[in-house]
Amino acid sequence: MMEMEAPQSVSIIIPCLNERENIPIVVERLEALLIHRKWEAVFVDDDSTDGSIEVLMNLARMKPHVRFIRRIGRRGLSSACLEGMATSVADIFAVMDCDLQHDETILPKMLAAFEENPSLELAVGTRYAGEGGGVGNWSKARVFISRLATNLGSLARKTELSDPMSGFFAIRREVFEQTVRQMTGKGFKILLDMVLSAGRPLKTREFAYQFRTRQHGESKLDIVVGFEYLYLLADKIFGRFVPVSFVVYVLAGLSGLFLHLATLGILFRYVGIAFVSAQLTATLVAMVSNFLVNNSVTFRQQRLKGAMLLPGLLAYIAICGLGAIVNVQASEYLFQNHIPWWFAGAAGALVGAVWNYAVSTQIVWTWLPGILRNSSKPK
Ligand code: GDD
Ligand code: MN
Repeated sequence: MMEMEAPQSVSIIIPCLNERENIPIVVERLEALLIHRKWEAVFVDDDSTDGSIEVLMNLARMKPHVRFIRRIGRRGLSSACLEGMATSVADIFAVMDCDLQHDETILPKMLAAFEENPSLELAVGTRYAGEGGGVGNWSKARVFISRLATNLGSLARKTELSDPMSGFFAIRREVFEQTVRQMTGKGFKILLDMVLSAGRPLKTREFAYQFRTRQHGESKLDIVVGFEYLYLLADKIFGRFVPVSFVVYVLAGLSGLFLHLATLGILFRYVGIAFVSAQLTATLVAMVSNFLVNNSVTFRQQRLKGAMLLPGLLAYIAICGLGAIVNVQASEYLFQNHIPWWFAGAAGALVGAVWNYAVSTQIVWTWLPGILRNSSKPK
């Protein structure tokens, strides 16, 4: 007979964004399923606008098994789950969506598996493996994209999973402790992020289930989430050498260069403005464009909005101005030391880009949002 471990306490971590109608149903179903166990539900809400928080407060007042975290000014499925785990004292953390698409009836089996097998580290609800797995009524395109993402993901993985995109899984606390600092915490793919960050194969068991169709509320998965997924993979594969956000930053810069030349060409050749004025205008246009592109792509997670945009733009222009000086100084130094002109020029541009990236990351997208947020708080 197999050795059984003592009953493990469990926190069900439930990320939710505008899921008002689903929250009470989830609680009711968990209560019915987990009666014989020490458990709690931890809802992590990112400042929903549909009145979810009132629903959560009422439930938490009435029910000792229900608590919630309310994150203001922040977004993200992965980071929501990680923060939920960070507030819990349980032995096992299970992550489940709030929209009832995950079949909660397999939870008791998943949790019991940890007691049956003391070396088990990860239990995954999977839509692809074994009997009973399935994706419900997904469109062909969604099935294709999901499979493609699955196959791409296996390039970087050590733990074999049939459904690494699954948002329905349970881990032992130790796995969280060992991986959380290596995780990017960005985007949707928390399980993949965790498995990639573990640096070793995790002892895993899969549980097939049928992905249900959403009844209330709407999906938050969009094209940007798709990009975040590619970003996560690139970060895990190449991130040790060059930060992926730097590469994105340089690509944004190249788009700016293109725009610069186009503006210069139009103003100088066709409109007939003096070269210096045309060049100055083109430089400004490129800077504004770079700022906006970086704000909505490269630094999407810390994006500046509304009244913070103008101070951000001005700081960005000042930093890039200094960057240009650094660039010219560096290339001049190299050139005077008999380095070929093209190499000196390119090296100067690279040094300038690194400067712009490093300083604007710290000032425009870290420090500035912090102080502006604090100064706008009611006293
Ligand atoms: N706190 C928080 N913050 N919760 C969020 C956020 C966020 O930014 N974005 C989404 N959620 C919550 C939703 O409220 C829902 O409970 C859950 O996370 C999943 O979001 P959906 O928008 O319903 O995602 P989906 O059904 O398209 O994606 C599902 O399938 C993917 C695989 O194809 C999820 O299970 C994903 O985890 C899974 O990767
Ligand atoms: Mn969903």
